[in-house]
Amino acid sequence: MSRSAHPAGPRHADVLPEGHYSPPPADLNALDPKVWARTVTRDKDGVVTVGGIAVTELAERFGTPAYILDEADFRARARAWRTAFGNDADVFYAGKAFLSRAVVRWLDEEGLNLDVCSGTELATALSAGMPAEKIAFHGNNKSMAEIRRAVEAGVGRIVLDSFQEIVRVAHVAQELGRRQRVQIRVTVGVEAHTHEFIATAHEDQKFGIPLAGGQAAEAVRRALQLDGLELAGIHSHIGSQIFDMSGFEVAAHRVVRLLREIRDEHGIELPEIDLGGGLGIAYTSDDDPREPHEIAKALHEIVSSECEAARLRTPRISVEPGRAIVGPTAFTLYEVGTIKPLEGLRTYVSVDGGMSDNIRTALYDAEYSIALASRVSDAEPMLVRVVGKHCESGDIVVRDAFLPADLAPGDLVAVPATGAYCRSMASNYNHVLRPPVVAVADGEARVIVRRETEEDLLRLDVG
Ligand code: LLP
Repeated sequence: MSRSAHPAGPRHADVLPEGHYSPPPADLNALDPKVWARTVTRDKDGVVTVGGIAVTELAERFGTPAYILDEADFRARARAWRTAFGNDADVFYAGKAFLSRAVVRWLDEEGLNLDVCSGTELATALSAGMPAEKIAFHGNNKSMAEIRRAVEAGVGRIVLDSFQEIVRVAHVAQELGRRQRVQIRVTVGVEAHTHEFIATAHEDQKFGIPLAGGQAAEAVRRALQLDGLELAGIHSHIGSQIFDMSGFEVAAHRVVRLLREIRDEHGIELPEIDLGGGLGIAYTSDDDPREPHEIAKALHEIVSSECEAARLRTPRISVEPGRAIVGPTAFTLYEVGTIKPLEGLRTYVSVDGGMSDNIRTALYDAEYSIALASRVSDAEPMLVRVVGKHCESGDIVVRDAFLPADLAPGDLVAVPATGAYCRSMASNYNHVLRPPVVAVADGEARVIVRRETEEDLLRLDVG
């Protein structure tokens, strides 16, 4: 079983036992479009290119490691979500997956809204010109200063996560002479994972207010009494890296039941329902994510049939995909440093980054793919573990993969699907400097988040 099964990891229900990896792919040079950003291909010399630029050139200009983000792919995915959900729904990109000012501008241009979950994510969004009314503010422990900043800025909604917060937001809003639009985040007793969803027992978590025991109904009662709040809807987020829609079905069923209870008790029909994010992406060729239009259709059908059964007007739906938009659009480019064949075991390939730029493998047992990017090779497949440069044996980037046996120091390798929760969860462990994010589009590359420098790091260390 998994060493460190975690709710956010892919397939935590059926992680393969140690040492049971899939056989090598038929063609080690192939780039499966499922896991690579859309404009990624190999040029006539076999070098991987993205947005028309070879990774060898990117490495030379920007150094390694680097996150390389395909802007056209990002925009296309954002647009696909927006189009799939249509005008009677809203798509809030979850900024926690990856947020930068360029990304905020792309989202605004593509007609998406934004979900932020800290005062500084909010500041980033506002500084890039995202209209405040398109921002939703999340978090299970927002400080009074963060609440004040959000209300003052005029964010479109604050998602209330606790009884204390209902009072805090109402208080701040009243003080500022505002009426703040809010949703109440409920926990529906469903936690959805890749290949499973488990009903019950998952109210045991820090987020939201449980439906169980009438707690959510009580939260609604209190919110409706407070002048500073305009209760617009109910929010539910059931998990991460989900492929199976049945968890959403149960969640929608339970949220709609609450909407019906609210109508029966208070005589009002809340106009909004947010079903959160969590839609899965392909990290390896074995993963089969759904397209946005399939997800939109399924969610619309689920909500409208539940509402019909409850004789409620169908509320305006919103969703909060993060990973599904940005995840597949970027890869991490590394240079191979050392290669250690361990007789009868595997070959350890060390790259010039590691758990500081991608903590997901160590933290969630996440699976990734990898390819030799600076050239093609006809050599035999070699079983490798791709590791980083940190002082920790758990510093693994790709646990089990195949690379050509003629791999050599100085080769460039690329790990696809690192757009989400890699840069945003990057650290300075071992005082390693965080890599840049380079956006590539139409043959042009530009840094959207620059590489950290020694001066950046030392500036914080006041001696
Ligand atoms: N909405 C809410 C309220 C959330 O809590 C999250 C993620 C999302 C939307 C976006 O979920 P997405 O569509 O990106 O799966 N660090 C973990 C993931 C943590 C997700 C936390 N909440 C990982 O690397 O897998």
